[in-house]
Amino acid sequence: MTRRTHIIDSLEDEHRLIAEVTDAFGRFLNAIDEVGEVDRADLSQFARFFVEFADQRHHEKEEDILMPALVHTSLRWDEGPLSQLRADHEQERYFIEAFQQLAAQSAALSMEDQRHLVSVGREFIELGHRHMGIEQDHVYPIARTLPGEQIEALTERLTTFEQSVGPEGASELELVARGLIDKYPSGAAA
Ligand SMILES: [Fe+2]
Ligand SMILES: [Fe+2]
Repeated sequence: MTRRTHIIDSLEDEHRLIAEVTDAFGRFLNAIDEVGEVDRADLSQFARFFVEFADQRHHEKEEDILMPALVHTSLRWDEGPLSQLRADHEQERYFIEAFQQLAAQSAALSMEDQRHLVSVGREFIELGHRHMGIEQDHVYPIARTLPGEQIEALTERLTTFEQSVGPEGASELELVARGLIDKYPSGAAA
């Protein structure tokens, strides 16, 4: 039997990739400021990663699998961090939709569209890092204190979820992520 990855280890691995793509997105926005035009194919790839990996996979796992189990700890569903994190996911969806719309626009982006993209994009980046910080520092450590059999059950549900959405999709999205990280590497001129 193959050994399954602990649910929190798996979510933390996803955070590392999301953080790297988020930072690459910041450098993509800096490039817009410098060059004065938007590479819409890249914008579309960033939006695809944020929709299909960050939202439809990672956020879905947090909201549908992890968070319901955490109401048996000191955390509450409708107040405090869990409520805030769900509101953040909603806010992030709104930002990502704006990126998708701008990427799909038939005409070239006006200067106003570009300014809007850069400003909304930077808010999205700030929110994303703050959000993952709260999860890493305040929520995942509590999740790690759940009894072993609950962790096992959550890890099992995670595996079922992965199978239902298709593991090959995750590898394809990781390739998209690597392509973007390589194209907008850290250390590149801000
Ligand atoms: Fe989250
Ligand atoms: Fe997360």
